[in-house]
Amino acid sequence: MDIERLNEQLARIEAEVTARLDRVTEPDALRSLETSVLGKTGSLGGLVGAIKEFPPEQRGQVGKAVNAAKGRIKELLDRRMGELRAAADEAEAAAAGAFDPTLPGEREPMGSVHPVTAVQWEIERAFERLGFTVEAGPEMETEYNNFEALNIPADHPARDMQDTFWLKNGMVLRTHTSPVQHRAMIKFGAPLRVIVPGRCFRYETLDASHENTFHQVEGLMIDRDISIANLIAMARTLLREVMKREVKLRVRPGYFPFVEPGIEIDMNCQICGGGGCPTCKQSGWIEILPAGMVHPNVLRAGNIDTETYTGFAFGLGLTRLAMMKYGIRDIRVLNAGDLRALVSPERLGGTTIVRETASAVGDVRKR
Ligand code: FA5
Repeated sequence: MDIERLNEQLARIEAEVTARLDRVTEPDALRSLETSVLGKTGSLGGLVGAIKEFPPEQRGQVGKAVNAAKGRIKELLDRRMGELRAAADEAEAAAAGAFDPTLPGEREPMGSVHPVTAVQWEIERAFERLGFTVEAGPEMETEYNNFEALNIPADHPARDMQDTFWLKNGMVLRTHTSPVQHRAMIKFGAPLRVIVPGRCFRYETLDASHENTFHQVEGLMIDRDISIANLIAMARTLLREVMKREVKLRVRPGYFPFVEPGIEIDMNCQICGGGGCPTCKQSGWIEILPAGMVHPNVLRAGNIDTETYTGFAFGLGLTRLAMMKYGIRDIRVLNAGDLRALVSPERLGGTTIVRETASAVGDVRKR
């Protein structure tokens, strides 16, 4: 055999191996192929023995050519073996339910959320999408922030609308979230978009829809060219989004010294469907969202330029909205620590959330 023929033979063996590799789908078959090529008596292994047949001066060159071909073929075989092993592992994982031990463990949702918190989160998400920031304010307020800054001086009859818990230090438990309107104007100036969820307190006779401790969400938007049409559109969107269904709204005039004009947006009672029940005091409507255009005196107290800016504000009755959403007939259940009123995490955001709980809460009231 001369060198030329040897090289041809090596090239042919290499081409044959390459062609057969794709057809081999099992590791065992690949091992047989390897033996039939590289084994002592294999097509290439056999050529190693033929090196000594060449004249001594050519043996080095021949040996190098055979070894190089052997190396390349070994590399092809090893790569294919890697592919076959990976495919076998994948198939095994699929058969075993694709268990991946490197993934973090799954945790069952735990605990539950108060209905007021559930609705609060929903409102926060909806307003954040509209570019509002979520602010907080103190529950113990100055008399100035709770009343005077909102255009309610000491001798104003409107103070009777919100009976107050006075503290020995001269401060009040805030009767509404509106004092944070003033705080936000001072802190951020205009233009401004904030909502303020929070707890309020009133010296109140309790009934199915009145508590002495309840939640509101204040909303305030100040900018150029803000009108009451923006306010009503926003209220409609908000209530539809939280209730996850169309609700009937009623807009009527309302009086609050800190807005002009002032309106009341009522929702048809979701407990009785509007026919009349103790929750809506037989009126078929629930007072849910008093609002209006911010009074210039309030803007001025907040250092806002009234020539340039106007704004709307609202004070959503968050606790009452949670009652409407979840069908809770009596507000007192919500502060009573009754665990059946809670919303389980996996139901958060659903449309039928606490219907079961609602009837349980109804039962509590009947007993
Ligand atoms: C206010 O508190 C005004 N600060 C709202 C406002 C803000 C008007 C901005 C204009 C501009 P009102 O007293 O009506 O208004 O209370 C607002 C809502 O809080 C009511 O519609 C009601 O849903 C809820 N609310 C009031 N008192 C109670 C109570 N005792 N128990 C439960 N919810 C209450």
